[in-house]
Amino acid sequence: MCGIIGYAGKNEAAPIMLDSLRRLEYRGYDSAGLVVSRDKKLYLTKSAGYVQILADLTEEGAQMPGHVGLGHTRWATHGQPNDANAHPHISDGGTIAVVHNGIIENYRKLREFLTGKGFTFSSETDTEVAVNLIQYYYDRSHDILRAVADAARRMEGSYALGILCEDLPDTLIATKRESPLSIGAGDGENYITSDVAAIITRTRNIITLRDYEIAVLRADGVELYSGELDRLTRKAEVVDWDVAAAEKGGYPHFMLKEIMEQPESVRRSLSPRIRDGEIILDELEIPDDYLKSISKIYIAACGTADFAGVVMKYNLERIARVPTEVVFASEFRYNLPPIDETTLVICISQSGTTADTIAAMREAKKNGARVLSIVNVVGSVIAEESDWSLLTLAGPEISVASTKAYSTQLAVGYLVTLYFAKVRGTVTPDAYKTAVDALVRLPDAIEETLKLQETTQYLASRYFSSNDIYFIGRGLDYALSLEGDQKLKEISYIHSEAYAAGELKHGPIALIDAAVKTPVVAVATNKRLIDKMVSNAVEVKSRGASVLALVTDVTAETMRGVAEDLITVSDYEEAFLPSLAIIPLQLFAYYIALQRGCDIDKPRNLAKSVTVE
Ligand code: F6R
Repeated sequence: MCGIIGYAGKNEAAPIMLDSLRRLEYRGYDSAGLVVSRDKKLYLTKSAGYVQILADLTEEGAQMPGHVGLGHTRWATHGQPNDANAHPHISDGGTIAVVHNGIIENYRKLREFLTGKGFTFSSETDTEVAVNLIQYYYDRSHDILRAVADAARRMEGSYALGILCEDLPDTLIATKRESPLSIGAGDGENYITSDVAAIITRTRNIITLRDYEIAVLRADGVELYSGELDRLTRKAEVVDWDVAAAEKGGYPHFMLKEIMEQPESVRRSLSPRIRDGEIILDELEIPDDYLKSISKIYIAACGTADFAGVVMKYNLERIARVPTEVVFASEFRYNLPPIDETTLVICISQSGTTADTIAAMREAKKNGARVLSIVNVVGSVIAEESDWSLLTLAGPEISVASTKAYSTQLAVGYLVTLYFAKVRGTVTPDAYKTAVDALVRLPDAIEETLKLQETTQYLASRYFSSNDIYFIGRGLDYALSLEGDQKLKEISYIHSEAYAAGELKHGPIALIDAAVKTPVVAVATNKRLIDKMVSNAVEVKSRGASVLALVTDVTAETMRGVAEDLITVSDYEEAFLPSLAIIPLQLFAYYIALQRGCDIDKPRNLAKSVTVE
């Protein structure tokens, strides 16, 4: 999705911004641009295609001297990904430059209004409406802050805006509504960014801009204003992400690096919250009475975060005995189920900025439910606005395909489940102790499972040329199938689907084609359900499928002889087994994509953080 960088400092802005734009590339984009402010003039370079084109056009920024500037990577929403539609956009009067993330929903009406006032447009974007609206108000007041505030009031939808005005060559302005925007407070230089990973090597002091606030940045400081232009003060938060975590560190892809980081990420998310055999969730402060009164949980999330929610659902229902439903946030927001004060809505999100999940959270709150969020980015909208928030401590996740964020979402989900179960009295002291002990050992068990790297690479070489691959499973294995399928399709572009194994006979089995020996990945780690899974594997095999079974050292024996290939993880406590079994599924997707020559960290059409609907 689009990325914003802005710089105001003592150094040359363009080379620094190019470095940041390269760090934003992982989010997915199709054009890029830079503008710098110098001697009361704005200098612009932009182009469809990669940041490298921009770097070549500007000789790595050397052709664009200036100490204040804006940069952008655009993921097309309004209009083709071409030079004209790329950001930054300059106003018709030429005084204002803007970069923009989000969608201005009333842009047609505003465009008509501005056309009526004599403004002309050279692109199809909603962003050009924003820049001209600011110019319109600036022409009237000659006060850029007032102009930004006035324009912001008229724009509907979502926006994060970086703004330059040629009359103020040392100043950068920013404002936002619903789209994320952060300020990096450095030493003699300050930044704006839509993604902290873009500036983490330069400063860790981050101020998260809130809706309608306006920030004014110069080399020597940052001023913050409300939408009514009252002066505000807010201290920067220190983001303690490891700088190396945002670099590839010798791995060929961020995805592989992040897969390998999972033991550590899970350890960081679990160990501070387990003390002397007890789960301590200091951050939560949920009254026990409320926890006991919960009659229904909805989990609202998108994509991989949603599939982590499916694992959580099975565990919450079996261990904490709370009826739980998982609903895609995009569905939840417009089809609100009956909710009241005894409903808990859990929003799961890596970025904390996914537009649909934000909307689901707000709808839930508006209708009387309480919201618990599980989020990876400190200070993000979802972390800030939910009633209670637990951080996953995955560190920055750069690869578009989520791996370590998913693993930490599972881990925090286990903590919440056991904590709820204890308070609600649905778990015996012995079972609680066994479960907590297993959680303590979990990071090491994940580490051990990563040794399957070579075996998975071999299996990928057997299946990489398939056109279709299906995943089947039951219960937690079904939840895993959803994520195994998601990983495979998004990075390898192989058509794949996941089905609850019991549903096969009701339709999907027709897809098995003996002529091509359609591969079916049978996820069969659950001891209780292994006989049922073997039956399902036999059903597809007898129709010509080739079966790759993901089993444990306990379930392997029953599946042997049915499956062509077996991949075996160690048996573990049922509730936490997904944390081990997901490892070979992630590696399988990775190595298949590698063999197919795909752009693994930046899969086509996808974006890391989906901040528009
Ligand atoms: C898939 C993936 C996406 C995200 C989804 C939600 O690998 O990364 O499906 O999980 O877009 O994003 P967050 O978790 O940031 O809300």
